[in-house]
Amino acid sequence: MACETKTWLVLHLLLLVTCYMQHCVHGQSSQVPCIFIFGDGLSGNGNNNMLPTTAKANYNPYGIDFPTGPTGRATNGRTAIDIIGELLGFADFIPPFANTSGSNITKGVNYASGSAGIREETGKHMGANVAFGLQIENHKIIVSRLAANLGGLPQARNYLNKCLYYVNIGSSDYINNYYMPQFYTTSRIYSPEQYAKTLVNQISLYIQTLHDVGARKLVLVGLGRIGCTPKVIAANGNGLCDENKNADALIFSHKLKSLVDKFNTLHLDSKSIFLNRTARAVLDRSLGFTVFNNSCCPMNSNGMCIPNSIPCMNRKEYVFYDGVHVTSTVNNLTASTAYDSASNPETTYPMDIKHLAQYTFT
Ligand SMILES: *[C@@H]1O[C@H](CO)[C@@H](O)[C@H](O)[C@H]1NC(C)=O
Ligand SMILES: *[C@@H]1O[C@H](CO)[C@@H](O)[C@H](O)[C@H]1NC(C)=O
Ligand SMILES: *[C@@H]1O[C@H](CO)[C@@H](O)[C@H](O)[C@H]1NC(C)=O
Ligand SMILES: *[C@@H]1O[C@H](CO)[C@@H](O)[C@H](O)[C@H]1NC(C)=O
Ligand SMILES: *[C@@H]1O[C@H](CO)[C@@H](O)[C@H](O)[C@H]1NC(C)=O
Repeated sequence: MACETKTWLVLHLLLLVTCYMQHCVHGQSSQVPCIFIFGDGLSGNGNNNMLPTTAKANYNPYGIDFPTGPTGRATNGRTAIDIIGELLGFADFIPPFANTSGSNITKGVNYASGSAGIREETGKHMGANVAFGLQIENHKIIVSRLAANLGGLPQARNYLNKCLYYVNIGSSDYINNYYMPQFYTTSRIYSPEQYAKTLVNQISLYIQTLHDVGARKLVLVGLGRIGCTPKVIAANGNGLCDENKNADALIFSHKLKSLVDKFNTLHLDSKSIFLNRTARAVLDRSLGFTVFNNSCCPMNSNGMCIPNSIPCMNRKEYVFYDGVHVTSTVNNLTASTAYDSASNPETTYPMDIKHLAQYTFT
């Protein structure tokens, strides 16, 4: 008996050590098995690198604070979803869809594409991008590949049910569509209220498709204050935010938040949450920011950093890195409050990512 206990103990210890040496250290201890990322340049990590478009971020001074330099991330360091992944216990970054042949898709895939929108035409004045609809199609390809790897569709579904699905899209449908009447007709067709409604209806259809292929834990991210981006402020000419544009973004975000309620009522087997990117807690002056209305890098007319330009030194004091994308300091704050909102409950609804990851369906 004593001997058995001892053997068991030794075995258990051995297992622990093995786990420590091989898996746990290498990210097997992540709180969800995988993350699938849908969105635009706020989440992109290289999908546009090989596309014919000017909406790229794989050149200096992007990535100046990223371990491997420029990668296609439209910020100085890590994106918000990079940091959320780390907080969830992932040791490696989630690979871009464009580069999945050389990487392991088991822990998730990033489909996000700079300038992309919910609408197919959004951002196309800069060249190609992967719109939300195509990102969903790409996910279906990955689901089939996972089914082949895991021994069948039921096994894949069972695995995919536990993953996190992060959707941060819509800014571009305003900045690179609705506010560009010289290229797009939407502002002549829709009022801001109608436009937000068509966009959120479209998101609703797309997340239904994600649900159909196994998504059960979804994070839907609201828009930032698009009227306060340096690109818009520069166009305004007076150094001030465009409050009409902020109001448009707020209409969209309120509808997205309502969609979370609708989807949670409709699907008791899944849970969605809404992230409020304009909550007071995220961008407080007391957090050390001093520059709100200007980009850290010199920007071109699309609001992207001018290649090889010299960015600001005090990047922790800047909200924006280029004309439309925030610094990794802001991403740090967004990610940490999204992950654990105990001290800032208004940033997540109805729960934070930490609780969503732990959530079990009854
Ligand atoms: C593509 O995948 C390879 C192999 O995993 C990796 O070395 C390379 O850095 C990846 N490139 C990008 C842009 O992610
Ligand atoms: C991918 O990662 C999973 C889990 O980390 C592992 O079990 C699998 O063998 C890996 N597949 C490849 C092709 O490396
Ligand atoms: C930003 O705001 C400051 C202070 O309010 C102002 O002096 C400056 O001109 C503004 N910068 C831009 C680019 O509008
Ligand atoms: C986000 O939070 C701000 C204030 O913290 C609030 O004014 C706004 O209505 C919230 N947005 C949504 C969509 O609930
Ligand atoms: C982000 O937060 C981490 C941990 O708190 C810190 O080490 C890092 O310097 C921060 N990065 C930025 C850009 O603020």
